[in-house]
Amino acid sequence: MRCMTEPTRPSVSPEAAFGLATPYRDVTCGELRAGDAGREITIAGWVHRRRDYGGLIFIDLRDRYGLTQVVINEAEAPEATEAANRVRNEFVLQVVGTVARRLAGTENAKLATGEVEVQARKVTILSEAETPPFYINEPDAPVDESLRLRYRYLDIRRRPMVERLILRSELVKAVRDAHHRAGFVEVETPILLKSTPEGARDFIVPSRLQPGSVYALPQSPQQLKQLLMVAGMDRYFQIARCFRDEDLRGDRQPEFTQLDLEMSFVTEERVMDFVEAMIIEVSRAVVPDRPIQQLPFPRIDYNDAMERYGSDKPDLRFGMELADLAPGLAAIGAASPESATGFRVFDEALAAGGRVKAIAAPGMGESSRSQIEELVAFARRFGAKGLAHVSVQADGTGHSPIGKFLGEERVAAIVKATSAGPGDLILIVADANHELVADVLGRLRQELGLRLGLADENVLAYCWVMHFPMYQWEADLGRWHATHNPFSGVVPEDEVLLATKSGDPYKPSHEDPAGRARAMQYDIALNGWELGGGSVRIHKRELLETSFALQGYTLEQMHERFGGILEAFDYGAPPHGGIAMGIDRWAALFSHQTNIREVMAFPKTQSGGDLMLGSPSSPDAEQYSELGLKFVGVETANG
Ligand code: AMO
Ligand code: AMP
Repeated sequence: MRCMTEPTRPSVSPEAAFGLATPYRDVTCGELRAGDAGREITIAGWVHRRRDYGGLIFIDLRDRYGLTQVVINEAEAPEATEAANRVRNEFVLQVVGTVARRLAGTENAKLATGEVEVQARKVTILSEAETPPFYINEPDAPVDESLRLRYRYLDIRRRPMVERLILRSELVKAVRDAHHRAGFVEVETPILLKSTPEGARDFIVPSRLQPGSVYALPQSPQQLKQLLMVAGMDRYFQIARCFRDEDLRGDRQPEFTQLDLEMSFVTEERVMDFVEAMIIEVSRAVVPDRPIQQLPFPRIDYNDAMERYGSDKPDLRFGMELADLAPGLAAIGAASPESATGFRVFDEALAAGGRVKAIAAPGMGESSRSQIEELVAFARRFGAKGLAHVSVQADGTGHSPIGKFLGEERVAAIVKATSAGPGDLILIVADANHELVADVLGRLRQELGLRLGLADENVLAYCWVMHFPMYQWEADLGRWHATHNPFSGVVPEDEVLLATKSGDPYKPSHEDPAGRARAMQYDIALNGWELGGGSVRIHKRELLETSFALQGYTLEQMHERFGGILEAFDYGAPPHGGIAMGIDRWAALFSHQTNIREVMAFPKTQSGGDLMLGSPSSPDAEQYSELGLKFVGVETANG
């Protein structure tokens, strides 16, 4: 029998197949220039704006590529005028006509296509449109965010969203290019997975084929990427979707995207060197006009970061460092036999082994009472018991409500310790808890730095923060908790602190020297945001079991939760390490946004909802009976 083949058809060239021309259009709304005058073209898009001058109708036609002015002259094109008369904003049109130079004096320099217009011969309405719930042609007009999210497809028609989504796409492309050049292999890992702890709650998906069992959506691909190292992939990366059920903030969504990568046979230095070079390359490709503040990126010890900036993600675009007031106050000697400083709050904090620290806010010395009260309320919101202040006078002396307790000499010592100058406002927090002092002042520093315009919006200040403590004691649970990643290794000289933990269950103790161990953990911060975090991992089973024992897991729990990776380590795991960076955060910082929703096509609201399609929603009764599920004590739409 003869093989039947299709009748031959001419091959299409890639140029034509990849090009933007289609049967509906030859050109996009962004491409016509003066040199195109005289061309007969077909163009399609949305009606951005329509102006009727009686006999002459102007339509700005819009698509993702730009805006093109179309003119319909009643005398020359009566049928086109008839259609154009029915047209309203956001109708979808196809226009056939001739490109012409605009009359001298009517060009629009703000538009790339502003030298020309299309004189229409034919106007076809491809789709009609309701009046949109907000103006699409006024991108700067404020629109309630819930309305934008409810009609996200209209919001994305607006220029700022278009530009941000394109920037995000360019970011991901630059990331991929850099990784391919460096020999990384992009591997997809499953979304239906098992619990992968990263400090949040899991989203779970019940299994129909195995009733009573659930999958957990990955909080990150952490274990899988480590298994890929055991598998010998050597260099892996992924643009990975992650899911974390946690309280949402401006920089957090329940579903977000990481650039996740892992490398074999590496040290901390080696991973950071690659990541730094990759970040520089990506920044230059995506936002070439934005200068990087310092190269190579500063590397700051976690303890220094907390001491100097009160944050493990310091914004290095401005100074305003935290000053320790204790040495200056101590140098003066006790105020009286009962009081070291003359001020009870300071005495108590210092006697309890706490701290008295301050920042100097430039130019805020003249703040009103209510402005100061607002700062006090800010500090209290983050746990401070109070916030004292000193304003520096024109002659350089300090003036303060607590001056009467401290005395002139101590107030002068405070001014000196903070290097404050005339007109500055010194803000002081005292507390027995040194972490609280750092945190409150760190937040004030960041807030005021931005308010006072000390941070250059254009600059990208990347920095590494290193040597985090590996564990933190959780007093109420009686165990250690990995401050970052439970799979992180400890710096080699601290490994002795992790003597093998015998006894099962092992009872973790607050006294355990492991509490002093520093992790081979590095975070990358950008302009006051945590952009990414990673570590060199433990690659030996025994050490990983010890680490889990400190974190309060029994052997049985370890095997139940992490059995897969523990077993894999028995088959030859290379030393390895990696990092994950928040793509949403990176895109937001690149486009000057303070909320990652602005760079996500379809984000969730603060309460985790999708206003457009209406998720989460109740499953229908059949669906959950199939899964063997019953909602107990919860009102659902299905009763
Ligand atoms: P980590 O938990 O630090 O590390 O996450 C890495 C980066 O992911 C981003 N990120 C988020 N972005 C938006 N919404 C969220 N809810 C959210 N949570 C995290 C941040 C963060 O810096 N497996 C480790 C990485 C590793 O060790 O290799 C991990 O997930 O930008
Ligand atoms: P009080 O003794 O509470 O009336 O406070 C006197 C002054 O000290 C006020 O300006 C308070 O804001 C300030 N103050 C109180 N507690 C603290 C604290 N923990 N740290 C810094 N200042 C404080």
